[in-house]
Amino acid sequence: MLLCFADEQKSAERIAAAGNLDLARINRHRFPDGEIKLDLPDTLPEQVVILRTLNNPNEKLVELLLAAQTARNLGARHLTLVAPYLAYMRQDIAFHPGEAISQRIVGHFLAGLFDAVVTVDPHLHRVATLNEAVPVTDAIVLSAAPLLSGLIASRRPQALLVGPDEESAQWVSLAASQHALEYAVCQKVRLGDRTVQVALPEVRVANRQVVLVDDVASTGHTVAHAAQLLLAAGAVSVDVAVTHALFAGDALQLIVNAGVGEVWSTDCIQHSSNAVSMATTIARALSRLHGAPAHDSGDCSASNAT
Ligand code: R5P
Repeated sequence: MLLCFADEQKSAERIAAAGNLDLARINRHRFPDGEIKLDLPDTLPEQVVILRTLNNPNEKLVELLLAAQTARNLGARHLTLVAPYLAYMRQDIAFHPGEAISQRIVGHFLAGLFDAVVTVDPHLHRVATLNEAVPVTDAIVLSAAPLLSGLIASRRPQALLVGPDEESAQWVSLAASQHALEYAVCQKVRLGDRTVQVALPEVRVANRQVVLVDDVASTGHTVAHAAQLLLAAGAVSVDVAVTHALFAGDALQLIVNAGVGEVWSTDCIQHSSNAVSMATTIARALSRLHGAPAHDSGDCSASNAT
């Protein structure tokens, strides 16, 4: 059984349809003082999956604490978290004494609640595997790069793919390999939340259609800055493809103002830029985990992804 919250009902319906899963809602009540109460179905099967994508994560982490322990009390023996976007993965070391290593803390918190975690393109930089960050029995990493690559290849067949920083090399190289596209990677120095310095790679961009590929756009400054440099270097167009459409505040406007043409994202986080759906990929991962066949609905089109 797949359990979802009201704000992720549409994503859950796509995954449930692709995976032939029963779907039920977790209902939420917020008390006047800000505390929350959850209601789950009163009986649960032994295998339960909870869908919660972890953008705006702080309150959702409390929801997961309440939901997972209640699910165990109601009969769940094996609990899987599907968190298409996994928060707090970027803070993976203490840059100075006293700084919380959020990745490790949140990862261990989730591992204490769930037997398995399924996620998409987590930001793993200084750790090699998801299991190191979230030490569950089954830590499953999926990638949106193949689907985004297919979309890019259909819209910009001769595109040069560019990763805006060193960390993006893992996603841009995978995307490029799917359709034999050329790729290159920028160098970036982050000076603050909204201040980055980007250096373009040694590759010809003049008269090229360029697509920036990254795991996440948050404030949008990384891709906006890279786009400005690429256009100044003669690129005929710059579009953006990201797995996770965080787009905090005015990020999308900032990116458009930088000269970016189109912005494509996956439905890991619901956003107007969603252009591909990860539902079938997630459903297949769940069926491998639970040993049941998933429907092959091939739902990677833009039309039903929002
Ligand atoms: C960092 O390495 C990530 O891959 C993204 O490039 C970064 O988080 C984007 O942040 P922002 O949109 O705030 O520049």
